[in-house]
Amino acid sequence: MKSLGEEAKALIQKATDLKQLNDIRVAFLGKKGKLKNILKTLGKLSPEERKEIGQLANKIKEELEELLKSQETTLKQKALEEELRKEKIDITLPASWIDIGSSHPVISTLIGISEIFISMGFSVAEGPEVEKEEYNFDMLNIPKDHPARDMQDTFFLNNGDILRTHTSPVQVRTMLTRKPPIAIIAPGRVYRKDADPTHSPMFHQIEGLLVDENVTFRDLKGILKIFLESVFGKDVGIRFRPSYFPFTEPSAEVDISCTVCGGKGCRVCKGTGWLEILGCGMVDPNVFKAVNIDPDKYSGFAFGLGIERIAMLKYRITDIRLLFENNMRFNHQFKGIR
Ligand code: DAH
Repeated sequence: MKSLGEEAKALIQKATDLKQLNDIRVAFLGKKGKLKNILKTLGKLSPEERKEIGQLANKIKEELEELLKSQETTLKQKALEEELRKEKIDITLPASWIDIGSSHPVISTLIGISEIFISMGFSVAEGPEVEKEEYNFDMLNIPKDHPARDMQDTFFLNNGDILRTHTSPVQVRTMLTRKPPIAIIAPGRVYRKDADPTHSPMFHQIEGLLVDENVTFRDLKGILKIFLESVFGKDVGIRFRPSYFPFTEPSAEVDISCTVCGGKGCRVCKGTGWLEILGCGMVDPNVFKAVNIDPDKYSGFAFGLGIERIAMLKYRITDIRLLFENNMRFNHQFKGIR
């Protein structure tokens, strides 16, 4: 019985998991275990021997149970430590990348420009992209047979409406519904049948319109100077060139000194040192008449500019199509720029 006890102790100490431990318990202390088997033979012994052996058996049983218990605790502790080790989360590992969006350079530019004019008291007006020919052309003093209509290669809808070719119809819509003084900008999408590295069939413009008594060309110049200097910096060169638009008289195109070479002449400015940036002028009396505003009482100026062109010059983007491909690697480069 003693050697059985020793054998069991050795096995318990060597056990490496709880199942083994339980098997040992059953094999030695179970109902049909080795210890019970020996005790079954006690009948042949004398009462004294039986007592002695019985006490010994109890002692061994108690020892084994105690050992089993402590070994069980040790193994449970080990198992727990192993589990904790395996399931440990390494919080120092970099997290997986979440691709957050970014403002599109055209939208950043649009918002940036709008904010400059809003800070000078202009408010934002809107008009539809599907427009009446009347508002897009006729009421802007562009007659049916005027070559300007050819200049603007227009998308026509089946019902005779068009996709607006510029944001200027918002001038008409605003003056039809509001009385002067008026100071609005109208940013939005416009459409022309045009597609090459510097032209897109859809692009964005901002229109400006200011109407009040005694508005002069000087006011126009002052406002545009503040605008251009806030976008391109205080040192930017600005020049007004006489031009023609049916809806303004007199009309001008505004150039800024080349943002790439600073005016020396390069590929971007085609050697001239200047970049054409916007069209403007004093609202033509014929436009005022079309919207029932008295041209003898009121005067005003208007201007229009392409947002993609400004974004391209500001960010030095050389192909307009990059702005519409929506390649995230391109778009992300303008994160946070405004
Ligand atoms: N609508 C013109 C265009 O799309 C731009 C323009 C020029 C707008 C002169 C104006 C302006 O308001 O006065 O080419």
